Amino acid sequence: MDEHPSPFIFDGPIPPEEVVGRDAELAALRTRAQAGRFTLLYAPRRYGKTSLIGRLQHDSDRSGDMFVIAVDLEGCQNIDDLTRRFAAAYNRLPRTRVGALLRAGATALQTFQPTIPTALGSFSIAGAPPSAQVLERLLSLPLEAAEKTKSRILVVLDEFQAIASISNADSILRSQIQHQRRHVSYLFSGSERHVLHTIFSDMAKPLYGQAEQLQLGPLPAEPAVSMVINKFESTGRDPGTALELLIKAAAGHPQRLAFLGDSLWHNTPPGEAADEGAWNTALAQALRATQYLIAPQDLRVGRKCCG
Ligand SMILES: Nc1ncnc2c1ncn2[C@@H]1O[C@H](COP(=O)(O)OP(=O)(O)O)[C@@H](O)[C@H]1O
Ligand SMILES: [Mg+2]
Repeated sequence: MDEHPSPFIFDGPIPPEEVVGRDAELAALRTRAQAGRFTLLYAPRRYGKTSLIGRLQHDSDRSGDMFVIAVDLEGCQNIDDLTRRFAAAYNRLPRTRVGALLRAGATALQTFQPTIPTALGSFSIAGAPPSAQVLERLLSLPLEAAEKTKSRILVVLDEFQAIASISNADSILRSQIQHQRRHVSYLFSGSERHVLHTIFSDMAKPLYGQAEQLQLGPLPAEPAVSMVINKFESTGRDPGTALELLIKAAAGHPQRLAFLGDSLWHNTPPGEAADEGAWNTALAQALRATQYLIAPQDLRVGRKCCG
């Protein structure tokens, strides 16, 4: 029985310390945020956006030069959902002064249940403020906290394209955030390029011209190689001659690298080095395990690797 579990994580964001090869992007995001800029971070799904945001938050908590609030908007369908996600993000904040102020603000607002969802639709409660007002109030809290503590806050809206289908969400957002730049910056992260493009580029939409774009590219080969070697060596294995085949097949796609790396790792016995035979078995298993991962023609040995 092997004493190690596989060191490869491929099913969601990774811990901050495992993020590799993104130093330039992290520095760019930090510089822009410090300067009060709004940024749109675009990359295909599973390219490492949420992991990068987690790392940015982690680094900022350590350095203390900026306070990062990450709000996950995935699956939000209406203004009530948005208010809940903001409140949840504030409630998760660390026990710093900024964190305490935002948690207190969210708790005060949470006593209002603007609507009750039922099988027949949502019903408003008499006397409760409309959800839009609660959302506006939640959006105004970062500025108040930043002013009180004299700190820079970065609010990250992950899976931002969700707001496209929510009536009025972009206007509410803009009405609040456009006056916050001196203390609060915004990072909009998303993966559906055409939806993001519509939100940000259509002149009729309120967020027109508000954000600079930063595209997350493929993971460069060098950090990808070091990452695989480290993961194999720290668990008593050697990626051997399979390493090059793995890097080529992943072609700079971070999650594909981890998924195929995991399969190769499972086909490399402890104390041994992986070879072409192990790679072929690993690749066949990985392809069987998933339909979406990769087109077979993209896996030809010798295909030029990205990075
Ligand atoms: N910088 C990175 N270093 C190492 N692995 C990464 C990196 N970025 C992404 N990954 C891999 O990709 C997977 C998906 O990352 P995630 O942050 O959830 O992507 P996204 O938010 O873009 O969908 C992770 O589980 C990990 O295997
Ligand atoms: Mg994500």
